[in-house]
Amino acid sequence: MKNYQEIFEKSLAHPEEFWAEAATSIDWYKKWDSVLDSSNPPFYNWFQGGEMNTCYNAVDRHVEQGRGEQIAIIYDSPVTDTVRKISWAELRDQVAKLAGALKAQGAEKGDTIIIYMPMIPEALVAMLACARLGVIHSVVFGGFAANELAIRIDHAQPKMIICASGAIEGKKQLAYKPLVAAAIEQSEHKPEKTIVFQRDFLEAELNQPGDLHWQELVKDAEPADCVPVAATDPLYILYTSGTTGMPKGVMRDNGGHAVALHWSMKNIYNMEPGEVFWAASDVGWVVGHSYIVYGPLLYGCTTVVYEGKPIGTPDAGAFWRVISEHKVKALFTAPTAFRAIKKEDPEGEYLKKYDLSNYKTLFLAGERLDPDTYHWARKLLNVPVIDHWWQTETGWAIVANPMGIEQFPIKPGSATKSVPGYDVKILDSEGNELGPGKESNIVIKLPLPPGTLATLWRNEERFVSSYMSRYPGYYETGDGGYIDDDGYVFVMGRIDDVINIAGHRLSTGAMEEIVASHSQVAECSVIGLDDSLKGQKPLGLVVLKAGVNCEPERLNQELIAMVRNGIGPIACYRETVIVSRLPKTRSGKILRGTMRAIAAGKAYRMPSTIDDPTSLEEISTALQKVGYPLK
Ligand code: COA
Ligand code: AMP
Repeated sequence: MKNYQEIFEKSLAHPEEFWAEAATSIDWYKKWDSVLDSSNPPFYNWFQGGEMNTCYNAVDRHVEQGRGEQIAIIYDSPVTDTVRKISWAELRDQVAKLAGALKAQGAEKGDTIIIYMPMIPEALVAMLACARLGVIHSVVFGGFAANELAIRIDHAQPKMIICASGAIEGKKQLAYKPLVAAAIEQSEHKPEKTIVFQRDFLEAELNQPGDLHWQELVKDAEPADCVPVAATDPLYILYTSGTTGMPKGVMRDNGGHAVALHWSMKNIYNMEPGEVFWAASDVGWVVGHSYIVYGPLLYGCTTVVYEGKPIGTPDAGAFWRVISEHKVKALFTAPTAFRAIKKEDPEGEYLKKYDLSNYKTLFLAGERLDPDTYHWARKLLNVPVIDHWWQTETGWAIVANPMGIEQFPIKPGSATKSVPGYDVKILDSEGNELGPGKESNIVIKLPLPPGTLATLWRNEERFVSSYMSRYPGYYETGDGGYIDDDGYVFVMGRIDDVINIAGHRLSTGAMEEIVASHSQVAECSVIGLDDSLKGQKPLGLVVLKAGVNCEPERLNQELIAMVRNGIGPIACYRETVIVSRLPKTRSGKILRGTMRAIAAGKAYRMPSTIDDPTSLEEISTALQKVGYPLK
């Protein structure tokens, strides 16, 4: 076994040497001039001057190395009763054909394309086809409403949109094309083309100018070759929730991303090429980008594309069936999925039906892994249960138990140790570094390793102000926590207005903007409450306009519909409480953090700047009425 401490120390003391060595695992058209360009902090460029192509590394080279007949993708879709296996050679041909079709429609290196697709292999084909041409893709999660898609269209300014005619969500059929049309109608920027993959169960009407039929388009398309791009050129933009209604467009480069993800597959996930890796997430999230698509494919692992849920498709044994049928070695999902399975099948009866002898490790991330869920999963599966912490911004794990390097004893509640490349520290609000056991802001000393966000798309100012300004020389993660005497990192939760619902990252600020726009609402605050299934859920505290006398349940139903239309069903907004005022500082700032602490039953200090201390009593009573803090 390799030695973690040695590797970790080398990665921080000699990052250029460390990552240059890792970069030899990637095929380059042109070697880099410098491993790390630090001339313009806090912007850092990895592999400056290098040229490569991510699609070539993830697809073509496996075929060229004689592995064309091996399986690249297993598509398992209980909702359409389909299992389909795609070899590397087939994947290469499909990607090259779609890339050829996109090229024929005018897509070129540096353009952007939005992808709005469910969990079908064509979503991966679309992403890889973009990467093949040096086109920057931006995948939008299917659970977002037309309004959220429109915001992203206006910001990313895509030349084209690629979508599917529809999706099946559990038992519901959803039509995607009308939603895309509504988003284009709302947006100021108008994409030139919309390419629609028609699914068997739902034919979309192609009735708008620029609508194109995917299957027709690729039939006679000339396959396109991989286009060399600079290591520092953008591969994708992925929008993620910040504290306002305007999401942040995390920009990922090509070279550093490929190097880091390739490195992570062995060192963190302990995979070998040819083995089966399954991230039960969605291509619309960062986990999907990194570990359904790029990580496994770059490393030569088979990836599982699962179009289903942990429960209800058809039962709480769905995950065990997929693991057993496809000989999955490692499953990566969110703790919520396990809480859902536990609720339906607490004794694990379904597991008894399946042979899981190839299955070695469970990786969990996306939200805090509560010790109860950890212990339940550990006992049930009898494999290591590895919590690891990361964010859309970093693109891969910051803290983990590095299974391919050295396996540390697990401390439930901790994601274990800093991953090589990440110098994690705890700083107090004045910027002083805190010692073991002291909880405060988690930061990462710059430079961040390769594969992390290069900047925010078309918004360098926000990149600096959101992450780099508060603690110069450090990246501010937005999470709070502590490091213990043994170097184990405990991530306790967000310290900003971002919440995590069923492993989905959402902004309470975005919900507040919608709730505040209701004609009877004077002001509001949306806070995250603990939830036993989804980790967190939102609650709206609302002050009515003077003289308004409305029926609380009717207002609640109207706000539910507004948030659903404005953000999407995944926001899970269901509860509103009317109060006479919100607790504020004397300068008028709403005390969200204090309200969150009251709701969570945590000790809090009465802010010295509070305008009226009795306002907190009203909030506390209102929260108690709806059952918070949880007993
Ligand atoms: N497209 C359209 N709608 C979607 C969607 C998608 N891709 N994903 C979710 N939704 C909808 C759901 O249908 C639901 O709508 P409804 O209010 O009309 O019922 C709503 O958004 C909320 O979805 P969700 O929070 O997923 O709740 P659920 O009750 O449908 O399922 C779980 C609960 C626990 C089974 C589910 O949340 C789950 O599988 N979680 C795992 C999380 C995960 O993989 N996270 C990825 C990060 S690693
Ligand atoms: P996302 O950008 O959607 O991946 O969400 C990132 C956020 O999810 C982090 O900032 C954390 O708040 C939370 N998160 C992700 N993984 C973990 C984990 N293992 N433990 C605790 N919180 C986590």
